[in-house]
Amino acid sequence: MSKLQSPLLSAAALAVLLSLSSAGQAAPSSEPIQPIPAAKAGSPATVELGKMLFFDPRLSKSGFISCNSCHNLSMGGSDNLKSSIGHGWQKGPINSPTVLNSRFNLAQFWDGRAKDLKEQAGGPIANPGEMAFSHEHTVTALKTIPGYVSAFQKAFGSPEVSIDRVTQAIAAFEETLVTPDSRFDKWLKGDKKALNTQELAGYKLFKESGCVACHNGPAVGGNSFQKMGVVEDYKASSPAEGRVAVTGKDADRFNFKVPTLRNVELTYPYFHDGAAATLPEAVDTMGRLQLGKKFTATENASIVAFLRTLTGKQPNFALPQLPPSADATPRPTPFEN
Ligand code: HEC
Ligand code: HEC
Repeated sequence: MSKLQSPLLSAAALAVLLSLSSAGQAAPSSEPIQPIPAAKAGSPATVELGKMLFFDPRLSKSGFISCNSCHNLSMGGSDNLKSSIGHGWQKGPINSPTVLNSRFNLAQFWDGRAKDLKEQAGGPIANPGEMAFSHEHTVTALKTIPGYVSAFQKAFGSPEVSIDRVTQAIAAFEETLVTPDSRFDKWLKGDKKALNTQELAGYKLFKESGCVACHNGPAVGGNSFQKMGVVEDYKASSPAEGRVAVTGKDADRFNFKVPTLRNVELTYPYFHDGAAATLPEAVDTMGRLQLGKKFTATENASIVAFLRTLTGKQPNFALPQLPPSADATPRPTPFEN
């Protein structure tokens, strides 16, 4: 047992070190989790353009799939499916993580292959299994739509449409997708009545069992890569191998970005393969595989009750009205591969 736990302890120590080294943004606190800071407000015109692009299915070959299709902002920024559905109803390879609070991630994607939100945003548009378009097609289409040309003018000071500007605007919008004021954050800020006895007991267990070694910081995750299956192997229902795909290092096999647990009650199903349908199941698996602990039903229920207090204020804005296509805009081809 102690032999099995040693890699965990070093992972734990590493996670704490990592969170300390990136703690510059938060005031020192005795808690391993900090409140979600308010949204970083970029230029309003850029954010507005990014919002339009996020909701616009014309960024896809089918004219049917937008970023919001798989990161539905009415459903916690995810699609609540085991794996996403892409162009031509293709089954995606991996569960769609939430876009909420993604600005706190140390890198984007489960394996961290995009360094930031801007780099990430270019991926799905050109991915044949997602939006199946090309960057050139996207730019060509947007250029023909007068409403977009003026939105680019407002956002960037000139009407040039480029993929660089598209991804910059989407990233600026995503920076605003934070969810402050959860009940847990109210408690962290001193409102001792914000949590009930069961939720507090759950938080205590979450800390004392060692969940916080990997799930810490403002996003309760997102700030390190850790092995899935520390004490016991995880039998994944998909072929994804995690961080090794990026680094090529065998030690990174089955290391995944620790997901944020903010709004986790909204972002089911869980894990990179979406194999855990419910929170009690996910908590049970984490306890056994990561910590070698079998929680009782009462312990499991209190951790789940704590996790539900992490749901914050969801983004709330008027739906963007998208400018109509012009006569010259290329038409979507939903039924072609
Ligand atoms: C067909 C479904 C689908 C579409 C459309 C889609 N995504 Fe995703 N998104 C995913 C999946 C699946 C992943 C995880 C992929 C991986 O990690 O390998 C992901 C990952 C992300 C992440 C990283 C989150 C994290 O925690 O690592 C961000 C941010 C994101 N998408 C934003 C966008 C934006 C912006 C668009 C539109 C330009 C978009 N997505 C379109 C399914 C989709
Ligand atoms: C050694 C690091 C580590 C420890 C300790 C740990 N986790 Fe995790 N947790 C992860 C990783 C990595 C994932 C993603 C694994 C995957 O998808 O394959 C994850 C995923 C989750 C998820 C699913 C989130 C989602 O959106 O898919 C939940 C819920 C969760 N952990 C809760 C807990 C709880 C509760 C504990 C304590 C009992 C805990 N974790 C302990 C690293 C850890």
